[in-house]
Order: sequence, then C-alpha cells, then structure tokens
Amino acid sequence: MKNTVIVGAQFGDEGKAKITDLLAKKADFIIRYQGGCNAGHTVVADDKKYKFHLVPSGILYENKTCFIGAGVVIYPEAFKAELDELINQGVKKETFEKNLKISPLANITMPYHIDLDGINESNLGKNKIGTTKKGIGPTYTDKYARTGLRIEDLFNEEALNKKLDLILPLKNKILDKVYGIKTYSKEEILSKLKEYKELFSPYVCFNWQELLRDAKKNKTILFEGAQGVLLDIDYGTYPYVTSSNPIAGGAGVGGGMGPMAIEEAIGVFKAYITRVGEGPFITELTDETGEKIQNIGAEFGVTTGRKRRCGWFDGVIAKYSVLVGGISKIALTKLDVFDTFEEIKFCYAYKNKKTGEITELYPTNVYEHYDYEPLYETFKGWMTDITQIKSYDKLPENAKIYLKRLEEYLGVEIAIISTGPDRDQTIFK
Ligand code: GDP
Ligand code: IMO
Ligand code: MG
Repeated sequence: MKNTVIVGAQFGDEGKAKITDLLAKKADFIIRYQGGCNAGHTVVADDKKYKFHLVPSGILYENKTCFIGAGVVIYPEAFKAELDELINQGVKKETFEKNLKISPLANITMPYHIDLDGINESNLGKNKIGTTKKGIGPTYTDKYARTGLRIEDLFNEEALNKKLDLILPLKNKILDKVYGIKTYSKEEILSKLKEYKELFSPYVCFNWQELLRDAKKNKTILFEGAQGVLLDIDYGTYPYVTSSNPIAGGAGVGGGMGPMAIEEAIGVFKAYITRVGEGPFITELTDETGEKIQNIGAEFGVTTGRKRRCGWFDGVIAKYSVLVGGISKIALTKLDVFDTFEEIKFCYAYKNKKTGEITELYPTNVYEHYDYEPLYETFKGWMTDITQIKSYDKLPENAKIYLKRLEEYLGVEIAIISTGPDRDQTIFK
C-alpha cells in the first residue's frame, strides 16, 4: 500500500473510521493529524462497536504504531474517558502503552476552553455554529494567538510556571471582564496540569523526530483525518466550520512529515450527505425522504447524539472537495442505505434563484447559499439488498449506473464501496 491519507469529503461522519480501520491492516504507522475530541469515529470489528474520538483506530491492531500529531488538540478528560472505555471493551492497556504515541507539540484543551466554547455558542443565540462544545475553537484560537499550552509544557515545571504567569491573568481577565464567568486560580490550574502530566506520561513521545524519520523511511503510513472538507477552517462553509484543516494538505502539517510523504488521498463520501450542527445545506431534505435516510442510515452524531440532517449527494460540493481536499481516489460508503429507494437523486449543478445562472462551481460565500437551488438527475433504485455483495460485478445494474455517473462527473475513480458497517461489507474495485 502507498502512504495514504483518509480525508472526509463532505461534512464529517462519512464513515472515515471504517475505511481507516480497513486500510490500517496494511499500514504500520497511523497518524491522526488534526481536530480533537469533536470527532466521533465508529469501527465495527468482531461484532463490537468501538467509538474513537482522539485515539487513532489503528489501536485495535496489536502491532501498529498510532501517533497523535502536533495538529491535534487534546482534551485530557475526554482522552481519559476514551481510554477507559476502550480498555473496558477489551483493548489491552499494554497495547496502548506500547503503540500509542502523542506528540509533545499537541495543544491541550483546558477547562476554560470548554467554558468559552459554551458561552460563545449561547451568546450567538440562533446564529450559533452548533459546535460539539468540546472547546475546539477556543483551543485553536489560543494556539494561533501563541497563548496555548502544549503537552511538552507539562514536563518542564519552571517554564510552565512562567508561561502560566503570562497566560492565566490574561485569560482570567477575559473570562471575568468580557464574559462574566468563572476564573481559575493558578493553584487550581497547576493541580489540573499535574493530573494531566500523570495521564499523558506513558504516551508522550519525546523521541518523535527519530520515530517519524524511521517511519518515513521504512514504514507504510496512514494519515487519519477527522471532520471533512466542508468543515475545513479555510475551505469549508465558513463560519460554520471547525477550527482545523481536515483536507489532505493538513496531513503534512499536522502529521509532521510534509506533503511529499503522502502518495494517495482517499476521499470518503457517503452515497448521500449529512450534516450535524448549523449552517447552510443546499441539498438538505426536510421531508419524509430525508427522514427515511436518517432512519435507515441511523444518522445520529457519535459525539453529541444529535440527529444528523440528511440530503441527496451533492456533486457540486463533491467536485469542490476533490479539488481542495486533494483527493485522488474515492471510498463511497452507505450505498446499502438506498436498498429500498425507488428513486435516487444526484445534484449536478446549482441554479441561482435571483439571476437564473446555473453553476457547477461551489459558491464559497455561504450567505449566498440561500440564493441557490439544487438541480437533480434522477436514477432508478435497485430495490434489492446489497449488504452481502462482495464484488463489483455482482452489484445490481442500477447501482452501477449511479456509481458510474458519480465517477464520470467527478473524474475520480471510486475504488472502495461500502455496503454496511462491518469490515467485510466492503467492495474493493
Ligand atoms: P466518521 O466520523 O467519518 O468515522 O463516521 P461515523 O463513525 O461518525 O459515522 C458513520 C456511521 O456509519 C457509523 O455508525 C458506521 O458504523 C456506519 N457505516 C459506515 N459505513 C457504512 C456502510 O457502508 N453502510 C452502513 N449502513 N453503515 C455504515
Ligand atoms: P468526525 O471526525 C461531523 C461540526 C460540528 C459543528 C462544527 C464546529 O466524526 O467526522 P467544533 O466542535 O469542531 O467547533 O464544531 O463542526 N463537527 C463535526 N460534524 N463530524 C465531525 O467529526 C465533526 N466535528 C465537528 O457539529 O457543526
Ligand atoms: Mg463521526
């Protein structure tokens, strides 16, 4: 296998974790490169359902190095809960201690970041972003404002003390004077940080430079993305986005190996499209068809339990994703969800309701999205159960017609087709 990055190509929850898990089998080294515990990644393996937020799902294999890169932000309480749950489900503690490595450069989500995420959202009222309230925006804000705390800070007491003397008064002023919420004493924060040091000690990888150098030379690497292209801070539906770069370009930065280490970028798309949180969604279905997709696809958020909004496959978004996401191959998931649909639609262009203009180019100013309506091509459904089909040739003709049209429209090969959550419900073309 080539060094590959897995990129969510829509609004997240495309089934990236299932594809990552499958490809991890052939890789030696798995790197999570951005995001935080806002991610909710489900892997179904050996009749068990595992939920990942921060830990690369490669941990399910006993002999893969799983690296959490500098581009990730880590909320210690969520990390601890995730570890406990996975150990409860049978992943061995020794596997974590042997295989899980955390970059000392990763930023820490502090309790005040969680508070700020909550209050920012409530201040926005009906204009809220609909974040996961995991402190993601405020943690990345501090990172880029150069007032963040990194894992490595926990291991240098003197420097940490000095840093806190700079950061904490400033933070407290903002918490108190701007937001009028709880402030934190230095003792309180120091005691938290002491706990965090203990928590991270077994996993912090101070020799990461040697580790990555060796991986680059001798190992097959899989870069695991979270979220999706349309949630990307630069290219997504800004401001209804997350605060990191899920696109393939983000893997070079967040993983610490540069873009030349990546040889393939697999974009994961659902056969339809979903979104959790707020923000425009041109092909959204608010009728019973949307409800049918939601029910059959069991579209509920892994991290927040919220219902996911559903709509038809949006080709305009997909073409844009292929471009800015840097996608070279496609994995299409959840095709089985359409097994009982007599008709399936595919959006090939948008029509501007004001000017009548028809476009295949994605309009980047989301405030203009309300001006557009989707134009659809309609396909006949296959009305048969495809969940046990193991080869492309055996797929019903109508399914192949739909897949071929997507490939032709996007100009990229659909190399993997997923027909159910299990590992073996997968067709490699
Ligand atoms: P991720 O965040 O991109 O990893 O995706 P999530 O785990 O949040 O959501 C995808 C959901 O769809 C999970 O519950 C998966 O088990 C499930 N899933 C993945 N692929 C398929 C598929 O091909 N068919 C069906 N029916 N479910 C799938
Ligand atoms: P995975 O990796 C779907 C969405 C939130 C919100 C916006 C900003 O499972 O695909 P944030 O908490 O990041 O500040 O929220 O981004 N969001 C996701 N939606 N899947 C995810 O991750 C998401 N992570 C964040 O719902 O709209
Ligand atoms: Mg998810």
